[in-house]
Amino acid sequence: SFQQQIPHGLKRIPGPRGYPLIGNMMEVGRNPHLSLTQMSRKYGDMMQIRIGTKPVLVLSGLDTIRQALVKQGEDFMGRPDLYSFRNVADGESLAFSTDSGEVWRARRKIAQNALKTFSVSPSPTTSSTCLVEEHISTEADHLVIKLLQVMTEQGSFDPWQYMVISVVNVICAMCFGKRHSHNDQELLRIVNATEDFIEVTASGNPADFIPVLQYLPSQSLKKFKEFNYRFISYLQKMVKEHYETFEKDNIRDITDSLIEEAKKAEANANIQLPKGKIVNLVNDIFGAGFDTVTTALSWSLMYLVSYPDIQKRIQEELGELMSLIRVEMPLFRWPHSNLFFLFFTTLDQNIGRERRPRLADRSMLPYTEAFILEMFRHSSFLPFTIPHCTTRDTILNGYYIPKDLCVFINQWQVNHDEKIWKDPSTFNPERFLNAEGTEVNKTNGEKVLVFGLGKRKCIGESIARWEIFLFLTTLLQQLEFNICDGKKVDMTPHYGLTMKHTRCEHFQVKQRFPVKSSQ
Ligand code: HEM
Repeated sequence: SFQQQIPHGLKRIPGPRGYPLIGNMMEVGRNPHLSLTQMSRKYGDMMQIRIGTKPVLVLSGLDTIRQALVKQGEDFMGRPDLYSFRNVADGESLAFSTDSGEVWRARRKIAQNALKTFSVSPSPTTSSTCLVEEHISTEADHLVIKLLQVMTEQGSFDPWQYMVISVVNVICAMCFGKRHSHNDQELLRIVNATEDFIEVTASGNPADFIPVLQYLPSQSLKKFKEFNYRFISYLQKMVKEHYETFEKDNIRDITDSLIEEAKKAEANANIQLPKGKIVNLVNDIFGAGFDTVTTALSWSLMYLVSYPDIQKRIQEELGELMSLIRVEMPLFRWPHSNLFFLFFTTLDQNIGRERRPRLADRSMLPYTEAFILEMFRHSSFLPFTIPHCTTRDTILNGYYIPKDLCVFINQWQVNHDEKIWKDPSTFNPERFLNAEGTEVNKTNGEKVLVFGLGKRKCIGESIARWEIFLFLTTLLQQLEFNICDGKKVDMTPHYGLTMKHTRCEHFQVKQRFPVKSSQ
């Protein structure tokens, strides 16, 4: 434990002294991303703290984090045995369980393959580049209509509840081959309660470090368990339906492909990988895939309404690209009525209004890309990765590190490190562009840390980046966002596994018309 013998010639990791029983909990406080960043200025990239009685290694600095997670990836790829994690997916989660051996590796591979098959594969029915592009386009179009409708009905609204359904529908389309309506009550109950999950799974949750807290009545733990129960029940129902209609020659979606893998494993009498363990991978894919992306989109909208000039510049960039191949046509004025809107949208595509953004446009929209990077960096809404732990005794930067030590990776610190970023607290997409503003500086882009690195790196990174790009460009092509006169947005992040801002009910949208009218 803390007072462990250090092998000769190696240094002990520095860190603040702690109080008995609670360790450094007071200093860590309610915003660990800020306090631990502050403390790393004093103690350095490698710092040891105690939360309760448990020692925790906190890693900061891009080079140190790269060294640990990439170059010494095997040493740092474990997950600690935390009370809260045992409650996720009945303790069998790919992302949260303590397993980091052969079974985890095999499951991660299966999940990656299933994801790949149902995202990058070409769509059999439409002209979209790939399946996920088709799903996102469909949902983004529905979202535009929905936002215009609530705008007409209410005059202002909170975009979160509409975006979350759209994002869930993309992951639903991939996992289950179906979409939900914006009024689906069972789904709404789950997706509106993600706070109950992310608060408890955040790095440094006291109940994970002071065991007695697990036995005391706690509202947040109770809600966390309820959330997990409801979530699993929903997924189990979907999986059961898939088993009942499964046909091996017609693999419809991710769930089917996991069932197929499970049947193979069963036939091979592969005791290592029981079929339940394969099928419940859908929990991880579904769970990791909607709250994160919705949070990213939600922060994006907050920045867009806070910086109207930035919003305008993205729209100009989009307008220029989309109209390059635009066939001139008479200008339609779209009334604020749903039916008319739908009618004209279909009519429109046939006669060639500005075309819709596609994934292939990404490289030609550098300012938009730079905005997304800056949103990731500035918000750092995933401030710490899921906690890691060491798989063996090791040495990092000359310091001795014992096996099974819990490790926090401070992504927020990297994204706000003055050694990397000029004026880190300023929101400025241009920091990612070359001097002419014509290209994204790739090296700078890679310094933004949000998906983790190395063996545990997020497996949904490409899909997430695609979703954010295509949702945003589709929304911004057709809508202009602002906040009601006299209202302000509150951008203070609330600490959690993913950090959210306070929900804002004062959003408004205006429909944009084709940029170049017939003059
Ligand atoms: C893990 C970020 C979207 C699936 C992670 C981790 C981070 C992360 C930081 C943990 C890395 C670590 O522990 O070192 C994000 C962000 C997203 C996003 C910022 C969106 C903006 C997605 C999506 C999916 C997904 C869309 C699936 C479709 C996963 C899975 C893991 C994971 C399965 C666990 C990997 C493992 O433990 O081996 N993600 N993610 N994520 N992510 Fe994502």
